[in-house]
Amino acid sequence: MRIILGVSGSVAAYRACDLARELMRQGHQVRVCLTDSAQNFVTPALFEALTGQPCLVDTFDEPDRGRMAHIDWARAADLVLVAPATANTLAKLAHGVADDMLTTLAVASQAPLMVVPAMNPTMYSSPGVLQARGILMDRGAEWLEPSTGDVACGENGQGKFPPIEVIVHEVQEVLSRSNQLAGQTVLISSGPTQEPIDIARYLTNRSSGKMGAALARAALRMGARVIVVAGPQRARLPVEAEIIPVQTAIEMRDRMVEMAPGADWIVGVAAVADYRPASPSLGKIRRSSEPLQLELLPNPDVLAEAVAAARPGTRAIGFAAEVGDDPEVIAGKLERKNLSAIAINDVAGAETGFESETNQITLQFRDGERIASEKMSKSALARWLFEQALSRS
Ligand code: C5P
Repeated sequence: MRIILGVSGSVAAYRACDLARELMRQGHQVRVCLTDSAQNFVTPALFEALTGQPCLVDTFDEPDRGRMAHIDWARAADLVLVAPATANTLAKLAHGVADDMLTTLAVASQAPLMVVPAMNPTMYSSPGVLQARGILMDRGAEWLEPSTGDVACGENGQGKFPPIEVIVHEVQEVLSRSNQLAGQTVLISSGPTQEPIDIARYLTNRSSGKMGAALARAALRMGARVIVVAGPQRARLPVEAEIIPVQTAIEMRDRMVEMAPGADWIVGVAAVADYRPASPSLGKIRRSSEPLQLELLPNPDVLAEAVAAARPGTRAIGFAAEVGDDPEVIAGKLERKNLSAIAINDVAGAETGFESETNQITLQFRDGERIASEKMSKSALARWLFEQALSRS
């Protein structure tokens, strides 16, 4: 596999030499890019001699004349690994700053990003680094926690560059994961639906679409083609996904049913409105002092209809927003919707469910087996879900 190793200006930069060599010993091609400040510790000549590849520093370095290296390298990469990553580089990566070759490559690449922070423990626990950590992890980047111990500046705490074998092990994990869904199409319903009452008003719910966006990112990272039929959601969907925007449950059902025959996986995470106004007004309903009655009709079950339209063997996963949870009730839903598994989500907790950054789910399979996840970021959870489902096939 092709790895871009970005080295920024931490004392641990010298350890990147061993890291590059070890990755090469595992059969990877390693191309190194240094930040300006990394050059205080290591040189391009050193990495060129070690890797047999050009080492980039300046944004306009062009080893092949006439070919923009930041695009060529970024396109070809299977992984962008920033090790060691300084507070400065992490903050830039989190905010999409591209003011040197390393950060430009990271912005230009669609490959998974893995960062290995190494710095003074006080810096590591500073608000800026913690914020960068949240942003990058939320985006699905791999963040390898530094080790705890004596660091170069004489302090003791968390900030040490981890052992090379730990980093290499993580790299192998990320790379092997990156083709687990290669060649497969994952169809996801995401976000809320909006059911018009009149031209100005609608019925909807609190779904932010964050879990749907996280599932789309995880499936893309695992090599899938991803189609998202998305209600009007706030969470941004990855640009690499094919996005089909819809508003109502009926539209969502129509597009899901249309796409289902081409899917290998169907994941229903949309919070579909259970009811819609029977006859939305074409104008604007006037205010009056009289009570207003809205007649509501039940909406179709989008996921059940999509699964019915899919090929046999298509794996289908639903989400159940539950308050409390009863295995019998879930078993009934699995049967009714003909699903392989249901992710049960306790929406009553503040840190799990609607709008939250983190989530915790219990997966219940058709044979009744249940596996509970830890509480984790929605990105990590999305990956966990696909891995659990894959491990059972
Ligand atoms: O039946 P219940 O609403 O608990 O099922 C939740 C699951 O079914 C979710 O995966 C949701 O996306 C899907 N669903 C649907 N259409 C509906 C209701 C739920 O696709 N009308």
